[in-house]
Formats: sequence, C-alpha cells, structure tokens
Amino acid sequence: MIILGIETSCDETSAAVLHNDTVISNVTVVQYFHSRYGGVVPELASRAHQRLIVPIVDEAINKASVSKKDISAIAAVKGPGLIGSLVVGLSFAKAMSVGLSIPFVGVNHLEAHLLSPFLESTKPEFPFVSLTVSGGHTQLVYVKNFFEYEVLGTTLDDAAGEAFDKVAKMLGIGYPGGPLIDKLAREGNAEAVKFPRPWLNDDSFSFSFSGLKTSVLYYLKKYNFKPTEAPTQFVKDVCAGFQASVVEVLVGKLIRAAKKKAVKTVAVAGGVAANTALRKYLEAEAQKYGLTVCIPRLEYCTDNAAMVAFVGYKYLCHKKESPLTIAVEPNLQLVSQGDISEQRNARDCTLA
Ligand code: KG4
Ligand code: ZN
Repeated sequence: MIILGIETSCDETSAAVLHNDTVISNVTVVQYFHSRYGGVVPELASRAHQRLIVPIVDEAINKASVSKKDISAIAAVKGPGLIGSLVVGLSFAKAMSVGLSIPFVGVNHLEAHLLSPFLESTKPEFPFVSLTVSGGHTQLVYVKNFFEYEVLGTTLDDAAGEAFDKVAKMLGIGYPGGPLIDKLAREGNAEAVKFPRPWLNDDSFSFSFSGLKTSVLYYLKKYNFKPTEAPTQFVKDVCAGFQASVVEVLVGKLIRAAKKKAVKTVAVAGGVAANTALRKYLEAEAQKYGLTVCIPRLEYCTDNAAMVAFVGYKYLCHKKESPLTIAVEPNLQLVSQGDISEQRNARDCTLA
C-alpha cells in the first residue's frame, strides 16, 4: 500500500509517502515567519498552508519516486488544531481522494504523535506508557495496543511546549521558545535558580505549568529584568532552571506511570520530545528502572505527515476509511477504539 499523508494542523505544512509502514519521503516546511509576531497567527497560517500544500505534496511524491496513480490511499489530519489550517489539509486530501478514486482517512493528530515511535525501526512493544508533549498538549497515555488507549493524565492548564514558548517570550529570546531555551540552557547553570517542580509529588498524573510560568515571571520582576539583544548569563541560567523543572516533572511522572502500569517500555513524542535535556534525563532515569525508551528522531517529534500516514495505514488495514462528509474537529481528544482484535488483519494490506 502506498499512502500519502498530509499534516496542516498548526504552522507546519507537511506531506509524506509511506510504503505500508515504512517512510519513503517526508517533506515539512515550518512557517518561521510567525516568529515575527511572537506566536502563530491562525489566519496567516491557513493562507500559508494554501500556498504550500500543492508544492509540498508534489515534492513528497517526487522524492518518493512514485506517481500520483501509484497512491493507494490518502490520510490527513482532521483535528485537533487550528480550524483554518485543518480545513486546508483535510479539504485538499478529500479532493485528491475523489480525483484519484482512492480511500481517504481523517486522522487524529494526537494519535499520530502517540504512534510516531513506530516510524523507527526499533518499535515499542505493547503495552507501553507514552508521554505526548507538544505546543498544544501534554498527556500520559497507557497504550495497550493500536487503537486501545487509556489517558492517565493531561495538563490542567498550559501544555509543556506552550510554557517553553511563553517563558521564551518573557525573556525576549524569540519564537518558538522550546529550541531556543534548549540551546541557551546548555550554557546556563540550572542550580543558579531553582524553580518549583509543580505537582511532581502528588499521586495524580495531571500536569500544571502555569504556576511555574508565574514563578519565572516573579523572578524576572524581582531582578527588574529587561530583555537585551544578546542573551546574558542571567537569561541562560533562567532557561536552565526553568527547563530542569519541566524536565524533572515530565520524566518523573512518566516513570511513575510506567511503574504503576508495570510496563517495560516508555515512549515520548511531540515537539518537546526534541528537548536534549529531557532525552538525557529520561535515558538516565529509564536505565535506573530497567525501562526501554522509544523516542523518534527529531523530524518525527515535531509535526510531520509521516506519523499521519502511519495512522492512516493502520486504520486502512482495519477497514476504517472515513466518509467524505467528515468535518475538521479543532478540539478533538484522543479516542480509544477499544479492543478491535477480532478485526485485526481484516484487510489485505497490500491494497493496489
Ligand atoms: O508537536 P509540535 O511540533 O506542534 C504541536 O502539535 O504543538 O510541538 C511544537 C512545540 C513548541 O511549543 C516548541 O517550542 C516545542 O514543541 N519544542 C521544544 C523543542 N523543540 C520544539 N520544546 C523544548 N525543547 C525543544 N528542543
Ligand atoms: Zn503536534
């Protein structure tokens, strides 16, 4: 099966071609111009998707050395995300499926992040606990099998990536904040300023980062901080201290969830999974508790169409096409489909 995937939920326009579950091409354009405004401007994002969708899809198809008539099915994100951005990708995918007379699948962006570790050759073994950490979401999920999920906890306010972006804005270092804080923190001293570890020691698997963000704000006020052209040592120390707090909370809860669910594998996905301190700390903690860690390469951590095509492939293997009448769902949550083992291998996955 040759699947074309399309991702346009926020500010990345991405298209990918998979041969069954193997990525042949994955082309992503990040709309960096939003940094000028300190965050994603929804109307500009959807206009940019409109401009980019045709060339990006063409490039993904060319890079995969296939032609349009080789494509067996098309998968696109239906939500969650920005409504205008979602509409561009979903409408394009529906039109293409009609034009080529091939099946179409609307994909949940959260499920795509959750299953992104399967794009790598070393795949997670079921059951595992996954931490999805992006600009819009922070959630811990017990993954029993494909389609069978139990959400253990989510954020009660800001997502982890959102907290990175907001703290970067306070520090005047730019957008998106995650990669910038990650870089500056390497030159900072995390011990110089110790921020609270919100909800780390409570029994729940909920997260809350807005109090931490306020602590950073008070700290900056206390020192009468004014952003400068070049980041000072003070800024680097705040970056290191803030990042250490987020990383300790995320990894601490992930390990606790793994112990509670008695799994041997943990996975991390979403843009914040690109964070170098998180990766390093998780490796060390996982080793302590004998856990295997699955984190996809950076290209598959941030928004990308390969993860969307993968979910599309899995759904098609279980005869789960979407009708063309589906609409975008900007507030879609992760949905468990329950045990569908009786349907497993229901379809010949070599379609066309
Ligand atoms: O998954 P993603 O590309 O888009 C969403 O679905 O939100 O995640 C984007 C988020 C942004 O908040 C960005 O600041 C954060 O991921 N991010 C990082 C890093 N790279 C991206 N956060 C921390 N460290 C990074 N290296
Ligand atoms: Zn995402």
